[in-house]
Amino acid sequence: MKILVIGGTNFIGPYVVRQLIEMGHEVTVFNRGQTTVKLPEEVHWLKGDKPSACASFVGDRQNLSDYKLQFQKLAPQVVLDMIPYTAKDAQDVVDTFKNIAQRVVAISSADVYRARDIIWQRETGIIDPTPLTEDSPLRSQLYPYRGLSDDPFAHDYDKIPVEQVLINATNLPATILRLPMVYGAGDYRHRLYPYLKRMDDKRPAIVLEEKLARWQGCYGYVENVARAITLAVNEEKAKGNIYNVAELPGSTVADLIQAIAKIVGWQGEIVIVPKTQMPDTGKFKSNLNQHWVTDSTRIRTELGYREICDRHEALRRTIGWSREHPPEAVAEKGHSQLLDYKDEDTILAKLKS
Ligand SMILES: NC(=O)c1ccc[n+]([C@@H]2O[C@H](COP(=O)([O-])OP(=O)(O)OC[C@H]3O[C@@H](n4cnc5c(N)ncnc54)[C@H](OP(=O)(O)O)[C@@H]3O)[C@@H](O)[C@H]2O)c1
Repeated sequence: MKILVIGGTNFIGPYVVRQLIEMGHEVTVFNRGQTTVKLPEEVHWLKGDKPSACASFVGDRQNLSDYKLQFQKLAPQVVLDMIPYTAKDAQDVVDTFKNIAQRVVAISSADVYRARDIIWQRETGIIDPTPLTEDSPLRSQLYPYRGLSDDPFAHDYDKIPVEQVLINATNLPATILRLPMVYGAGDYRHRLYPYLKRMDDKRPAIVLEEKLARWQGCYGYVENVARAITLAVNEEKAKGNIYNVAELPGSTVADLIQAIAKIVGWQGEIVIVPKTQMPDTGKFKSNLNQHWVTDSTRIRTELGYREICDRHEALRRTIGWSREHPPEAVAEKGHSQLLDYKDEDTILAKLKS
């Protein structure tokens, strides 16, 4: 099949492109050309002298309709939109490809669920039962990152309107994939790094507030997530459907740390303490009674999705990459909800005395 990938470089995209090519598809990647990536040798770019398994097309999706003639010439059967972030992005895809492509596969996120806003206390009320299915309640407030930074991306980002525009479009059938927190080589968020750094720094213990230790999140290893995406592209029967993508089962923060510790041979201890013993900096404003685990039964049953890499190997590969590519600003806490080493040492000393 001829597939046009909007995005396709940087983190998740290259894994998807590689798998699509391995499946025998003809892939054209559309992006601004700002992110470079090493794709396998058999991937030739449009200007190469050999026949192209993969071609690149430089353009900005903000002006998607400007490229309509080129898209008509290309005539992709499936458009894979890796990066729809706003209702406008989605509407542009529908308007541009409605008479060109047969269907669209669009990447969404588990952040559409109300559970996300219960955690961040933007919604109150009863805790939503987990695992969250595709029919679980969605956030009632739009634009989850608006006001949190000056970045226009944060102002306009919301996958809920993206999904609504695409699913309601009558002239271009869509498949939506709701991704979990994705980890693996290339993860610019460095999701595992804060835990790994503590272990590599030979810390004697990692202190977790008890609710954080037991909090369950949904995760996916990038090669497995790419497998789910390529299945949705490949399978015509995916059209019109929304699918969660996630590992089975969801993992608590303590489980995740244990699994990393096992791989790196860390001998330290996970010390779980009640909220009352935490310093103010460690008292989270988030509501950790709400877990954020999604149910991936539908994609497993309907599309036959299975992980191609088991969790141990997935973590092992990610750890190897993380050690070789530490984040530029080496923070002890990273993006996690961990304590500073100083606070951690104070708690450990108190527990010993
Ligand atoms: N990473 C996660 O944990 C996670 C979790 C849930 C959902 N997701 C979703 O997964 C998708 C992929 O995420 P990712 O982290 O892999 O993305 P990413 O690494 O940021 O990749 C972005 C891609 O889009 C291209 N791009 C950016 N702006 C563009 C524009 N205006 N026009 C054309 N191309 C543009 C970039 O290439 P150029 O810079 O060269 O243009 C690059 O190929 C996103 O929809 C994200 O919301 C990710």
